[in-house]
Amino acid sequence: MATETLFEIALTVNGVVRETKVPARRLLSDCLRHDLGLTGTHVGCEHGVCGCCTVLLDGEPVRSCLTFAVTAAGHEITTVEGLAAPDGTLSPVQRAFRECHALQCGFCTPGFLCTATALLAENPAPTDEEILEGISGNLCRCTGYQNIIKAVHRAAEIAAEEAAADAGDAAPGRAADEP
Ligand code: FES
Ligand code: FES
Repeated sequence: MATETLFEIALTVNGVVRETKVPARRLLSDCLRHDLGLTGTHVGCEHGVCGCCTVLLDGEPVRSCLTFAVTAAGHEITTVEGLAAPDGTLSPVQRAFRECHALQCGFCTPGFLCTATALLAENPAPTDEEILEGISGNLCRCTGYQNIIKAVHRAAEIAAEEAAADAGDAAPGRAADEP
């Protein structure tokens, strides 16, 4: 029986180059979960409907169940495991989801977090309509979406507050005896 050809690929996942061997038909979702052990990416429908498997490919949200791992070779992938800072500080989107109770069972959450991260990177202050449009490819069976929308607004606020604080820190300081 002919054996399946394996391809050596290198993916940059959450900033780390990961090498593996996969058949051409290996889905990126399976590669991440089974080959690389990154089970934070969830798989629901496996045919592009639910959005649970969303990851960022060069910053753009993609359905990893519709992407072949070999086509992601040489690209930068961010999964839910890569959203927090290296010291474990949750990202603004992650903090906002927790603060606004934007998850219940959590199955859909990794996909929503990646989608919302990309949405806010492109549009830092979206309207309700823009958020609805942005998350329209992600299904949630628990929350009714209202708290997810609130969380995206809250994440935008947190990110803006942090940017303002960083700008303040970077501004030249005033001398102590200056009026
Ligand atoms: S598992 Fe990929 S879209 Fe549902
Ligand atoms: S929190 Fe359960 S599916 Fe969204």
